[in-house]
Order: sequence, then C-alpha cells, then structure tokens
Amino acid sequence: MEHPVNLVWNKIDLKKLKFNVFEWFDDRWFLLSSGDFEKKDFNTMTISWGSMGIMWNKPFVQVVVRPTRYTYEFMNRSDYFTLSSFSDQYHRALNLLGVKSGRDGDKIAKSGLTPVKAPTVPPPVFAEADLIVECRKIYWDDFKPENFLAQEIHRNYSHNDYHRVFFGEIIGIYVSDK
Ligand SMILES: Cc1cc2nc3c(=O)[nH]c(=O)nc-3n(C[C@H](O)[C@H](O)[C@H](O)COP(=O)(O)O)c2cc1C
Repeated sequence: MEHPVNLVWNKIDLKKLKFNVFEWFDDRWFLLSSGDFEKKDFNTMTISWGSMGIMWNKPFVQVVVRPTRYTYEFMNRSDYFTLSSFSDQYHRALNLLGVKSGRDGDKIAKSGLTPVKAPTVPPPVFAEADLIVECRKIYWDDFKPENFLAQEIHRNYSHNDYHRVFFGEIIGIYVSDK
C-alpha cells in the first residue's frame, strides 16, 4: 500500500468541520490508538461506536472499549489516545484491525498501514489516514447493566463484557495535506 513521505498535518478549526459524525463512526469507522509510539509500546483497534460534542465546556470524543480488548490495557494506562480516519480504500485493513488482536501478533504490520508520530501526543496516528484526532483522557466510567433502560441493550453483552467509556478532550483535529 502506498503511503506518503513528508507527511504534513494541518490543524483545523473545530467549528468549521464539515463532516457527518454518524457517517464517520458508522460507515467509515476509526482506528483508536493508545500507548507510546516512540517507546514502541502501543496498540490500535477499529471502533465504530462513539460520539463527539461538548462536555464541561470542552470539545470531546467519547469511545467505548470492552475489557477483553488488548487496547483496553493501553487506554487505562495512557493519558492520551488518538483516532485516525481513512478513505474507503483502507476498509479491509480496518476490518483486519477490528477482528485480530495485538495480543496475538503484529496485526498492524499485517494490515499494511503505517503508524507514525502524532503531531503533539505520544500515541501514534497513521500515515494513510486523511483525518486524525488527538485526545487527552479526561474521564472514564463502566456501563452499568442495571441502568440500561432499553432492554435490547443487554443483547450486546452476552458475556457481561460491559464497555468502559473514555472521554477525551479534543486537543486537535488535523487533516493530511496529501
Ligand atoms: C467495525 C468494527 C467496529 C468496532 N467497534 C468497537 C468498539 O467501538 N468498541 C470495542 O470495544 N470494540 C470494537 N470493535 C472490536 C475490536 O476492534 C476488536 O475486538 C479488535 O480485535 C480488538 O483488538 P485488540 O485486542 O488488539 O485491542 C470493532 C470491530 C469492528 C470490525
């Protein structure tokens, strides 16, 4: 897979963002990365559930991670995480990163994607991404089944592996100049 050299990320004004958050989560998906790129101690996984908005007067992203994911360990011990978004041509790679675990081998190498240093935070982003989000972890909580008001929600948890919710303050959203 081709990837650009001399990558430049341009920070964009959040209020001028012109994307549909439903399409970006539900159809495009994101790679959620946590850990430290320079220490070669990071992991990434595909996500399609989450949200973006304003909380405590801060722009934020909410992601949900099941405790069974290898990424969960990195999310718990890292202060930052990133999201990387890709055009359709990388869908197959994102699918692989969403079915294989980093615990069982170098799935990132198998995906053909290239982790690179993020503009300001330790976790990587990906050279092939066309948009990236840098986040500082500001809150977490675990879903409590006794609070599920809609009974159908339980169907998502046949193994009682309730997601942990992480809020990340958005430090920056950047688009690639490629
Ligand atoms: C399209 C798609 C969306 C996913 N969304 C989520 C999600 O929002 N939260 C989650 O915990 N797992 C989600 N997964 C599953 C993880 O990506 C998957 O279990 C992955 O293999 C975990 O990798 P890891 O063990 O290396 O962390 C999704 C998978 C796919 C294919």
